[in-house]
Amino acid sequence: MVKIGIVGAGNVGATAALYAAQKELGDIALIDVVDGIPQGKGLDMMEAGPVLGYDSAIEGSNDFAALEDAALVVVTAGLARKPGMDRLDLLKKNAEIITSVTENIVKYAPDSQILMVSNPLDVMTYIALKVSGFGRKRVYGQAGVLDCARYRSFVAMELGVSMEDTQAIILGGHGDTMVPIPRYTTVSGIPITELLPREAIDRIVQRTRDGGAEIVNYLKTGSAYYAPAASVVQMVESVLKGKNRVLPASVMLQGEYGLRDVCVGVPVKLGSAGIEEVIELALSDDERAALHASASVYQESLDELGI
Ligand code: LAC
Repeated sequence: MVKIGIVGAGNVGATAALYAAQKELGDIALIDVVDGIPQGKGLDMMEAGPVLGYDSAIEGSNDFAALEDAALVVVTAGLARKPGMDRLDLLKKNAEIITSVTENIVKYAPDSQILMVSNPLDVMTYIALKVSGFGRKRVYGQAGVLDCARYRSFVAMELGVSMEDTQAIILGGHGDTMVPIPRYTTVSGIPITELLPREAIDRIVQRTRDGGAEIVNYLKTGSAYYAPAASVVQMVESVLKGKNRVLPASVMLQGEYGLRDVCVGVPVKLGSAGIEEVIELALSDDERAALHASASVYQESLDELGI
């Protein structure tokens, strides 16, 4: 089987490993700096194989050499904010971690693609892109699939329809400035603007923006991982099976949407080569202004880091 690397064996990384194994998308190298955690979780997942019916091997390791020959490396490593740390402290700390992780990916899996999951997502995607030198087709971030999953689930719950029949488009960064596009959000092709009053759509859009925080508020000591991991695996599947799914991803823009040299979420065609195509939608003036405002937040973070 092809090898999938997952860096970070916390809740998102380990859950993504399990979902990927259940779909037999490949063998998995699960890497973490904490001794015993990737080894223990990896072995535990191997032992679930006979019952759940999969033959993906899951190897836990503290050594990045385990990434050798990986086709795709999912990066979930990074710190959560601790008391006394401000946003910029966290940004700097995670920028250091992601720089070092990316250098190891280049060393051990030079032909791989990188799927970034660590926060702040759009900034970390940019750092991995610059440090790796892999080019924008091979370095992209997961956040839009998660944001759309939340949006879709809220639409399904509001209307009492199947989750599967909902589709959504969200542009922009993974944060308060994300830009849901209700006219492109549908139930089996029917725009939700035909199915829901304005007030309900506004409420769902706001809940989507706050989706990460809603889960943190419940969990108190951690953040979401089932929906984030499921979203990662949908992207991994599209790449490894060459499905060319049209999904939102954080990608370096090179003039599309009037933006350049910044990573934010836009719809892409995701296939064997990674970003096969950036899909540029015609936006209204308001939508375009909201996307530019979102991008400027991430541009400021890059400036703060001096990148
Ligand atoms: C979320 C955070 C963790 O959206 O990015 O759940």
